[in-house]
Amino acid sequence: MTKSRLFFAIFSYVAFTFFLLSCNNELNQAPASLTISEGFKNPMGFHDDKPTFSWQLPVTTDVKSQSAYQIVVASSRELLPNNPDLWDSTKQESNQSTFIEYKGTELQSRQKVYWQVRYWNQDGHVSEWSDINFFELGLLNNSDWKAKWVGLDTAKDSIKCVRKFLMHRPQCLRKGFEISTEVASARLYITAKGVFDVHLNGKDVSDDVMPPGWTPYNHRIETLTYDVSELIASGNNVLAVELASGWHSGRISRGNALYENFASPKILCQLEITLKDGSKQTIISDDTWKGTTNGPTRLASIYDGEVYDANLEMPNWTTTSFDDSTWIQTETDVITDSVKLEPKRHNTVKTRTTIDNVKLVSAKNNTAIFNFQQNIVGVPKVKVPMKKGDTLKIRFSEMLLNDGTFYTTNYRSAKSTDYYIASKDGIVEYTPKFTFHGFQFLELSGFDQSANPEASWVQGLAQYSNFDQNGTFTSSHEKLNQLQSNITWGLRDNFFDIPTDCPQRDERLGWTGDAQVISPTAMFNYDMYSFWSAWLQSMRETQSEHENGLIPFIIPDVLQNNNASSGWGDACVIIPWDLYHLTGDKSLLHENYEMGKKWIGYYQSKAKNFIPNMHSFADWLQPFPTKEGKEGNKGDTPRDLINTAYFGHSAHLISKIAGILGKEDDEKKFKDLYKAVANAFENEFFDEQHGKLKTEHETQTSYLLAIYFDLLKPETKKKAQQHLLATIKKADNHLGTGFLGTPILPKVLDDMGEIDLMYKILFKETYPSWFYSINQGATTMWERWNSYSQAEGYNPQPMNSLNHYAYGAIGQWMYERIAGLASLEPGYKKIRIAPIPNTEFLTSASASVKSPYGEASSSWNIENGEFTLDVVIPPNTSAEVQIPFGTEANLMVNGNNFTETSNVKLISSDKNVVKLLAEPGTYNFQTKF
Ligand code: BGC
Repeated sequence: MTKSRLFFAIFSYVAFTFFLLSCNNELNQAPASLTISEGFKNPMGFHDDKPTFSWQLPVTTDVKSQSAYQIVVASSRELLPNNPDLWDSTKQESNQSTFIEYKGTELQSRQKVYWQVRYWNQDGHVSEWSDINFFELGLLNNSDWKAKWVGLDTAKDSIKCVRKFLMHRPQCLRKGFEISTEVASARLYITAKGVFDVHLNGKDVSDDVMPPGWTPYNHRIETLTYDVSELIASGNNVLAVELASGWHSGRISRGNALYENFASPKILCQLEITLKDGSKQTIISDDTWKGTTNGPTRLASIYDGEVYDANLEMPNWTTTSFDDSTWIQTETDVITDSVKLEPKRHNTVKTRTTIDNVKLVSAKNNTAIFNFQQNIVGVPKVKVPMKKGDTLKIRFSEMLLNDGTFYTTNYRSAKSTDYYIASKDGIVEYTPKFTFHGFQFLELSGFDQSANPEASWVQGLAQYSNFDQNGTFTSSHEKLNQLQSNITWGLRDNFFDIPTDCPQRDERLGWTGDAQVISPTAMFNYDMYSFWSAWLQSMRETQSEHENGLIPFIIPDVLQNNNASSGWGDACVIIPWDLYHLTGDKSLLHENYEMGKKWIGYYQSKAKNFIPNMHSFADWLQPFPTKEGKEGNKGDTPRDLINTAYFGHSAHLISKIAGILGKEDDEKKFKDLYKAVANAFENEFFDEQHGKLKTEHETQTSYLLAIYFDLLKPETKKKAQQHLLATIKKADNHLGTGFLGTPILPKVLDDMGEIDLMYKILFKETYPSWFYSINQGATTMWERWNSYSQAEGYNPQPMNSLNHYAYGAIGQWMYERIAGLASLEPGYKKIRIAPIPNTEFLTSASASVKSPYGEASSSWNIENGEFTLDVVIPPNTSAEVQIPFGTEANLMVNGNNFTETSNVKLISSDKNVVKLLAEPGTYNFQTKF
C-alpha cells in the first residue's frame, strides 16, 4: 500500500469512527434509580395494583432535562421493550419523571410485573432503555386467603400484669408437610394478630423485627410476603412460628374492645409452592397446626420487657427432626370481611445499627452498669457468664441519677426489664425478641459472681423502620452538629413502625401533634415517604369511625376517648401538604383530601361565629408557664385562639389542595371559609389598632400562629410582628414556645428578615434553648426544654421523656436556611439554594438531599473575606441560587467572572444578594466581602 493510500485508509477509518461516535451521542445514557409509588425498588409482596413510576436522569453534560418519556410494562422480562403486554405509555411529551400513574391492564394478586423506561432529553435525543425493574404484588384481597387464624387460647391462663391487664404466654406453633417433587418457587404470605418470628426448616425466614407492625387492627392488618424458594426442598418440611402479643394483644392497646379485648394472639399464613412439574401446593394455617406455650419465652410485653427461661428451650423445634406429639391442637378463627388484609405498605422494623462503643460505668454487688453513650431504641445483645439456674436481670434507663443509680421515674408504669434464666454454667447469649426499650444505660445483675464485668458483655441493637438516610447536614459549629445528631437519633428512635411520641415509657403512641410538627424535618433526613403515607392510611381508617370527622389524638387510636385536639388532628391536612411539597406526588393529596375536608367539618361543628369550642393540648410544654406543675403543660396561649388559628390554617391549606386537584368549587368555598375564620380570629383576639393581643397572656406562639397562618390584615400583621419581636426581646432573645409554636418560630422570623435574631435564639446556651439540653448531656431531643439540668436534676413531673422529637422540628430550617437547600416547587422540581450565613456563629455549613430527581446539595464556606458556595443541581430541575455578600461585579462562577450563559442567568442583583437561575450541573460560586 502506498503512503497516500495508507493515509487515506487511516483517515477514512478515523472519520468513520468519529461519525459512529457522533451517532451514538444521539443515544443518551439510560435513566436510573427506578422506583415505584413512594420509592420502592423491585418490591416483593407489593400492596398497590395501581402503582406510579419514577426514575432519574443521568448526571451528564448532555442531559439537562427531559422532554418526553416512554414506559413499557410486561408480564415477562422477555417481552421488553418491544412487546409490552400490560402497558405501553407510548412516547409522552412531558418533563414529568416522577410518580407517573400506571394505566395498563388490571393487575392481579401475586402477579410479577416487569417495567422499563426511556426518555428524550432537551434536544429531543432519545436515551437507551433503563434496566428492567420489577414488582410482585402480594395478596390484595381477603378472598385470596384460604388460611385461617390459628393459635392457642392463652387468655384462659388469666395471667395478669401491671394494672391487672391480661398477659398472654408467647406460643410456638408448627406444621410439618411433605413436598413430593422439586420446588421451582415458593412464597410465604403471613401475618399475625400479635407479632411473630417465622422459621422454615430451621432457618429464619427474615430479619424483620416484630412484624407485621401496628395498624388499626379493627380495620386492617398488614401482611408480609417472603420469597422462600430456597428454604424448601422436596421431602419433609416444617413451618414454625413464634408468636407474642405485640401491640394487638398487649398492654399498649389498653384492652380495647376494638382490638378484641386482649384476644389471644393468632397467626395467619399461606405458603404457596410452585413445583418444577408446574403443579402447585399450598400449605395454610388451620387446625392441623400444633402449638405449645411451654417454650423458653415465658412472657413478652412492649412496655414491660421479656422473660426467657433457657431451661425450657426445645432444641430443633423449628426443624423436621422435632417430635411435637405432646403439643396441643390449635384453635382457629375464620377471616372476616370487616378487617382488610393488605400487604404491608412500608418497610418493617429492622436492626439497623449495632452500638458497641460501650463503657462500663460501675460494677459492685453483682450489679454492673453500662453506658452506650447514646440514647437508643431497640434491644441489647448480652454475652454474660452465668451459673445454671440463676436469673439475669436486665434493666434500662435513659440517664442516671446523681448517685449513679437509674432514673426510671420517667418510664412510669413501664417495667422495661428483661430476665434470662440460665440452663447451664458458662457464657450465655441473649437478645430479646418481642419487646423494645428506650435506653442509654443498661444494668445487669444476677450474672456469675466470680466474673469481672467487662464492657464487651453488652451491645446495643438500634432498631427502627427500615428507611435509609435521605439527607445530610453539617456545619463548623460543634453544638449545631450535636443538635443535628440529637435530631436524627430522636427520629430513628421514634419511628418504630409508626411515628411514636416517645419510645420508652408506658406510652409509645402515634401522637398526631408530634408527628405534624416533625414530618418535614424527618423527610429531609430520612427516606420515609412510604412510612408517612402508610400511617395516613391508618388515620383515614380511624377517622371513618367518627361521623363528625373527628381525628383522634393518636393513631392507631387505642385511647378511644372520642375527642380531638386542634394542632393535633390537623396532622391530616398539614402532613399531606408538607409531603406533597417535598415529593411532588399529587396522588397523596387525592388520597387524603376527603379526610382533610371532614376534619374541617369537625371544626365547623364545634364553631360558633367561626371560633371553635373544643379540646386542645394547646402550645404543649411551653417554657415558663404561669400555672404550676401538670396544669402548666398546656402553656399560656389560649385554647380558643389555637383552635381558631388551626381551623383557619387547615381551611386555607384544603383550599390550596383543592386548587391543585382542580376542584375549583372547593377551592373557593374553603378560601372563603379561611377568610371568614381569619376575620373572626383578628376581631376576637387582636386589638386591630395596635396589632396587639387582647388575651390575658401575650405569648410568642399567639403572635407566631397569627402571622404564619396569615390570619391578620396586612396592617395588623405588621404591628403584630413588632409585638412578637418585643416578646422575644423581653425573654432576652430566648424562645418561649411549646410544641406548636417552636416549628414556626424560624419560619416567621425568616419571613420577617430577622435571620440574625433567629441565629441568636438558636445559638442560646441558656434555658430555654436547643443548646441547653446539649449542655446538660443530651444525645436525643427531650420532651421538655427543661427535662433535666445538672444543677437541679430531673423535672419533677414523671411525664419527662428524654427522647421526644417535637423540638427537633428546627431541623427543617437548618437545611433550608443555614445550609440553604429547599424545595421551591413541589418535589424539588425547582430548588432554592439560599443560605443565610451568620458570621458571628458559623464559618461553614452544608446540606445534601436525595431529591426525587437525584442528589442536590448546597455547601458554603467563609474564609479570608471570601464566601464560597458549592452547589449541585440534579437533572430535570432548575434552581434559584441566592448568593449573599455578592454583587454581579464581584461574583465568580466556576473560577471565571460571572457572565450570563445558557446555564446561569441573572434574576436580580442588589448590594447584598445576587439571584441567579441555574440549570442542572455542579457550580462553584465565589464572592468577596
Ligand atoms: C405525649 C405527647 C403528646 C401529648 C399531648 C403526651 O403524653 O407524649 O407528646 O403530644 O401527650 O398531650
